[in-house]
Amino acid sequence: MSSTPLLLPKSLKALTSPNERGGYQVYMETFGCQMNEYDTELVRSIMKARGFQFTPVDEEADVVLFNTCAIRENAHNRLYGHLARYKARKKARGLVIGVLGCMAQNLKLELLESRSWIDVLVGPDAYRRLPDLLTDALEHQRRGLAVDLSEYETYAQIVPDRGDGVNGWIAVMRGCDNFCSFCVVPYTRGRERSRDPEGILEEARRLVSQGVRQITLLGQNVNSYRSDAWDFARLLVAVADVPGIRRVRFTSPHPKDFPPALLDAVAQHPIICNQIHLPLQSANDRMLERMGRGYTRREYLTLVDAIRKKGPMVLTTDLICGFCGETDEEFQETYDLVKEMEYQAAFVFKYSERKHTIAARKYPDDISEQIKGYRTNQIIELQKEISLRKNQALIGTPVEVMIEGDAKKSDQQWMGHTEYNVTVVWPKGSAAHLPGDLVSISIQDATPSTLYGNASENPLSPF
Ligand code: SAH
Ligand code: SF4
Ligand code: F3S
Repeated sequence: MSSTPLLLPKSLKALTSPNERGGYQVYMETFGCQMNEYDTELVRSIMKARGFQFTPVDEEADVVLFNTCAIRENAHNRLYGHLARYKARKKARGLVIGVLGCMAQNLKLELLESRSWIDVLVGPDAYRRLPDLLTDALEHQRRGLAVDLSEYETYAQIVPDRGDGVNGWIAVMRGCDNFCSFCVVPYTRGRERSRDPEGILEEARRLVSQGVRQITLLGQNVNSYRSDAWDFARLLVAVADVPGIRRVRFTSPHPKDFPPALLDAVAQHPIICNQIHLPLQSANDRMLERMGRGYTRREYLTLVDAIRKKGPMVLTTDLICGFCGETDEEFQETYDLVKEMEYQAAFVFKYSERKHTIAARKYPDDISEQIKGYRTNQIIELQKEISLRKNQALIGTPVEVMIEGDAKKSDQQWMGHTEYNVTVVWPKGSAAHLPGDLVSISIQDATPSTLYGNASENPLSPF
């Protein structure tokens, strides 16, 4: 689809020439998952190559971009709140506003028509066209729309423009073909396609040369990764073998097609963290069937057994409460299984009907908001107790932590994560550590989400 010129609202004044400040200034905010964070790095790279500059101060910007998420209704509402704020600012001094990402893809013209002050709307597969569309809006006051999904676009040659820090992520595949009935992602991100392994390994080596020590490989279902003779397990090991990397993680594998080779790779490779995010969604077979997840409760449990047999391995999960027709008993099955499973963490969501999805077409969204909220809170509270208990069990023991940066609340403290992805905070003290170092922290206190401690007497030497 080509860009659609639409009339711009009268309020948009012509902006000052970019040359006065060396390039149009862009302010960008990102919502949603890590894949969107990664896409923002791609967008920055694509735009900088065309002379745009980025500013962290929105008042200075000629262009404001939102990279959006469509996964639940509250993600939509957050964007609407932001957009309303920038409407007035645009009226006052002329501003080009762009909406990118999953909401742009999902709502398309509907969004442009309902919010006349949006100038540019670009979906996840059309970012290469963004500079032209923005230039058109800035210099010719034309509105633009690019929401074509592609079967091939992997942004393979684009070098993401990332900030500093020891954490880096690499999207190894894009799109999703699973069509879980509740989920909008297959519609916003299109068909699955994998990047070639050499490009991924080159990106990993580049990240290491920039100081990255922990890499997270991303995909909506990493188990679907395929490139000639390469599957995800092979790719994961190859990334973990890149010299200089200290930790490798990945998200998410799908429980329906978790290959034994992947489990072996996680269990055996010292660099691959023994932590697996394994979204359960529901423990009830009727719900799982309606959700189109492709596994039964028994199959999920068999997989968990196989994982736990491999040694210490931490599991986290995603759950949906109040999916179409979920009875109290069916919810109780999920609650009871969460109790039994002892996940390290669970991300619990109220079901939110998404337009175009199979569930929206097939099943009434018939659980009240109140019951959805009640069930969600029940599991959140349960999981808090479990996480707290697990974290408290670590008090008095040393844990290995990778330093990632200053703690949120104080630059006198470091923040990092354990191999199992639990946040740890501790006083910096006098030791000459740097982000990326692996250190031994003796745990003294715990909350459900954070461990607090002190650097042990004998810090682990960074390898
Ligand atoms: N591809 C990932 C999931 C990405 S979305 C995977 O399958 O692991 C992250 C989580 O959001 C999902 O696991 C699910 O728990 C939740 N989610 C997705 N669609 C939702 C909806 N319509 N309502 C509520 N939660 C939803
Ligand atoms: Fe959505 Fe299912 Fe694909 Fe995950 S695997 S992105 S939940 S459709
Ligand atoms: Fe991610 Fe949200 Fe899109 S979770 S894939 S940004 S709908």
